[in-house]
Amino acid sequence: MGSVTFSIPLDLATALVEAAGLRYAVETGTYLGASALMLDELVDEVWSIELKPEILEQARANCYGRPTIHLVEGYSPEVLPALLQQVPGPALFWLDGHGGTFGANDTPSHIRECPVLEEIALIDDYAHAAGSVILVDDARAFFGPLLHHRPEDWPTFVQVAQALGPGRYVTVLDDVVVAVPSAMRPVVDAWWTGKLRERDGLDAHPYLISKLMDPEWVEDFKRVMG
Ligand SMILES: C[S@@+](CC[C@H](N)C(=O)[O-])C[C@H]1O[C@@H](n2cnc3c(N)ncnc32)[C@H](O)[C@@H]1O
Repeated sequence: MGSVTFSIPLDLATALVEAAGLRYAVETGTYLGASALMLDELVDEVWSIELKPEILEQARANCYGRPTIHLVEGYSPEVLPALLQQVPGPALFWLDGHGGTFGANDTPSHIRECPVLEEIALIDDYAHAAGSVILVDDARAFFGPLLHHRPEDWPTFVQVAQALGPGRYVTVLDDVVVAVPSAMRPVVDAWWTGKLRERDGLDAHPYLISKLMDPEWVEDFKRVMG
């Protein structure tokens, strides 16, 4: 669900969909359908997988009247192979199917709390993997304990990055692991540069450099730091 920004970074998703000419989206972890509805605004058809029937029922109500959203019940590694055969071209993947939402220990014991490595392997087996874009939510959960109740069910960030590469540009921006075909790196970088500018990052950088070159400021700084 994302803890730095909420849900899908829509402006990044829009830039990637336009640059890659993507017409389809596949999501793991529907929850109440908010992200499926967002994806439906970007592409022609959306497939979204939800483990829990009682949650899916609410998502179905929220997505009522949207025939281009296909809600599928099940455990993502079991459902993806057949689902991906229906996806006729490269897709935007939003991988957000994991347990621990809102801190609850809510994953049945016979399945993985975070099967993202299995999901990536299955995506790589699908015909249009090379032209697809993969966004994995909750990047911080791969850096250390966050949503985990069964840490052994969560891969490390290095494992996620290795599974996504080679052949893709892989990075982490805000709380999202971003993996795009290598040629699309400029699209990702341009989006991030814009974000930094919005947040004063790029403007703050020359300001700090000017301060570090000012001997008086450096002396004051040393005094304050003891
Ligand atoms: C963080 S929420 C998804 C939020 C949603 N994508 C959004 O941005 O609004 C995670 C959801 O994934 C479901 N889930 C957990 N493991 C799953 C799996 N392996 N396959 C499909 N859904 C899963 C949970 O039941 C929960 O509803």
